[in-house]
Amino acid sequence: MDSVFAPNLLAGKAALVTGGGSGIGAGIAKLFAHHGAKVALLGRTVQKLDAVAAEIKAAGGIASVHPTDVRDYPALEKSMNDAAAAFGRLDIVVNSAAGNFLSPAASLSANGFRAVIDIDLCGTFNACRAAFTHLAKQGGVIVSITATQADVPTPLQVHAGAAKAGIAKLTRDLALEWGRSGIRVVAVAPGPVEGTEGMSRLAPGNSADALKKRVPLGRYATIEEIAASVLFLVSPAAAYVTGSTLLVDGGTSLIGAGPFLDMMGL
Ligand code: HXC
Repeated sequence: MDSVFAPNLLAGKAALVTGGGSGIGAGIAKLFAHHGAKVALLGRTVQKLDAVAAEIKAAGGIASVHPTDVRDYPALEKSMNDAAAAFGRLDIVVNSAAGNFLSPAASLSANGFRAVIDIDLCGTFNACRAAFTHLAKQGGVIVSITATQADVPTPLQVHAGAAKAGIAKLTRDLALEWGRSGIRVVAVAPGPVEGTEGMSRLAPGNSADALKKRVPLGRYATIEEIAASVLFLVSPAAAYVTGSTLLVDGGTSLIGAGPFLDMMGL
């Protein structure tokens, strides 16, 4: 058994991160590379992917870039196959690609609802499905990034909340089906995270200060703190964990929707 205490927790492993060009996905990719994994970065914007890959390589790591929209299954499957072929294996897949915006449900178009479901929920299924054959060869782990909004009723995010709740259920169902193939399937539900496009969309300007005051730990998470929780889940320390969603939210989900209602003047 791999040692839980090894300094290079992911040495010899290969990982693919969707949404790896920015925010939480980029933070996870960099931490994985720091721990010795080869990392495939997948996302829509090649310039963002290139910048993260350059950072990883400058630090002595190995990274490849796969410009792909997770909504496009054939393209995603090809990127997954390319990454596995280039690295000779695939052990870890992280679903971090996501889309969100604030919109009252009463004025949200059907296409707007569908766009977020397509990226978050269908994109997560697509990556899991395309990864299965590779992960089943030697066993592996899938970690999906959800959000506290999957459980906590939240105004103006019916599309993202529904998608994230779907991911939590997908996580449990796949864990059940794929456990015997040696694949663990888990999720991380962050609360508000500093320096992400998500929070600049969801709590712009002064509303961030009001929200921070209500979070039990009194601040947003850092990207590194979310990445660390994902590292735990893919490491030997979590070898018996599957089907779970780990809350990494500073207690935000404990206080319900109140702060979001205040923040949005509802
Ligand atoms: C209302 C909107 C809208 C807005 C888009 N739409 N933005 N409706 N308010 N602010 C509608 C459009 O009008 C259109 O419907 C439909 O959504 C699709 O829009 P497109 O721009 O064509 O879609 P696309 O180019 O595919 O972009 C997807 C996107 C976009 C989700 C809309 O915002 C995006 O690419 N975001 C990626 C980055 C991102 O959002 N990061 C933050 C993730 S935060 P019509 O009817 O006009 O055709 C996060 C945290 C989760 O995930 C925490 C909460 C659960």
